[in-house]
Amino acid sequence: MKLWQGRFDTQISADADAFNESLSFDKQLYHADITASIAHATMLGKCNILTATEAETICAELKNILSDIENGKLVIEGAEDIHSFVEGELVKRIGDMGKKLHTARSRNDQVATDMRLYVRGSIDRAIELLKAFIETLLSRAKESCKYIMPGFTHLRKAQPINCAQYFNAYSEMFLRDLDRFAKLRTRMNVMPLGSAALAGTSHPIDREITRQRLGFDEISQNSLDAVSDRDFVAEYIFNASLVMAHLSRLCEDTILYTSDEFGYWEIPDEYSTGSSIMPQKKNPDLPELVRGKTGRVYGHLTGILATIKGLPLAYNKDLQEDKEPFFDTEKTLFSCVSIYTALLSKIKLNVNAMYEAAGEGFATATDVADYLAKHGVPFRDAHAVTGKLVRYCIENNTTLPALSLAEFKAHSNVFEADVLEAVTTRASAEGRNSVGGSSTEAAKKGMKEIQKRLKKY
Ligand code: ARG
Repeated sequence: MKLWQGRFDTQISADADAFNESLSFDKQLYHADITASIAHATMLGKCNILTATEAETICAELKNILSDIENGKLVIEGAEDIHSFVEGELVKRIGDMGKKLHTARSRNDQVATDMRLYVRGSIDRAIELLKAFIETLLSRAKESCKYIMPGFTHLRKAQPINCAQYFNAYSEMFLRDLDRFAKLRTRMNVMPLGSAALAGTSHPIDREITRQRLGFDEISQNSLDAVSDRDFVAEYIFNASLVMAHLSRLCEDTILYTSDEFGYWEIPDEYSTGSSIMPQKKNPDLPELVRGKTGRVYGHLTGILATIKGLPLAYNKDLQEDKEPFFDTEKTLFSCVSIYTALLSKIKLNVNAMYEAAGEGFATATDVADYLAKHGVPFRDAHAVTGKLVRYCIENNTTLPALSLAEFKAHSNVFEADVLEAVTTRASAEGRNSVGGSSTEAAKKGMKEIQKRLKKY
């Protein structure tokens, strides 16, 4: 029997019922649903809408239902949605008294409340996972402060950088993600319960009681908006999309850096896969999958935005479509961040290969130009002289650090012996001591900064 059967002569047809149901995916909300119902029943008792005995009996049985679900005694099945399931089970257990639970409430404010409780918990879990991930990035940075690697622009070697600075760059991205989730938590912690179907209720409820019990910071101020607002779901998926964007960049680096062509990093065997035909292959399936799943989360973002677009006020059943994209986003986000945290902590750095590579491709040309500029040559002219030196190296099949002072001087008499040191790979990276730059000192300061900001969450 449906909660709404009264007005109907016949029962819903099986195909319509199957199409309409949401229990198969909203059963995940059981904890939130029962928690909110306990708060609601308690409030109804305190406001004398239910007697004290009624409220107590209902709350006690809701707690039994919760523990029966949690220890596997009660299977969630055979109802239209989680709200009908819990209420149906309550009525089965305590009879007509259970039917009073829905006084001054609608499934519309109920589902909006359940979703907020669930999403809030999910934000807390996302924050914890991101914190652990940034800690891992930080520990990789700490151990690689002394190493130099190539820095790229346009995927061409640009300048040597400190390895710690590389990891710090990703910490910065994930710190922004962390902050977005923390801010969303504050913004979304508003309680819709008490909005009823759309217009509020004539029962003398006290929303302050339910707000406190459910740990919301505020009470929604417009019932029409409250029952139909799913901005927080869209924001969550957006935040997750950016985490995935950042993860997929790191995955792309991983795939490139672990290739034979680069050889900077190695994925340990336990996080690699092989090929069914090519016996020599060691494939980066995990980073590829994370990169692939990024597209799937972006799809959910487009999906939720399309679902809420153009909905007439107030609640519409379209809003049931918020759940599957949300749950899948959550699952994808958590699994990707977790697997990558494990993978990152185990990646082996081939420090010699990185150092060698950092010196290739005239990566210290900017340092030659900077040398001249520091000695009074206008930078544009310094750039041109250095360009000629690079050409000279290419024509003579040599490199900048291999040039003699005489060869430097042949291009500009500003050069002195100390240029020979300035063009080395290490001096190049160490020279960039500006805030946020590639020197060891700057990278260490960067790590301290990250640690400090991380502590805020
Ligand atoms: N399963 C529904 C949802 O997720 C619950 C609310 C149903 N409300 C209604 N008026 N039919 O949105």
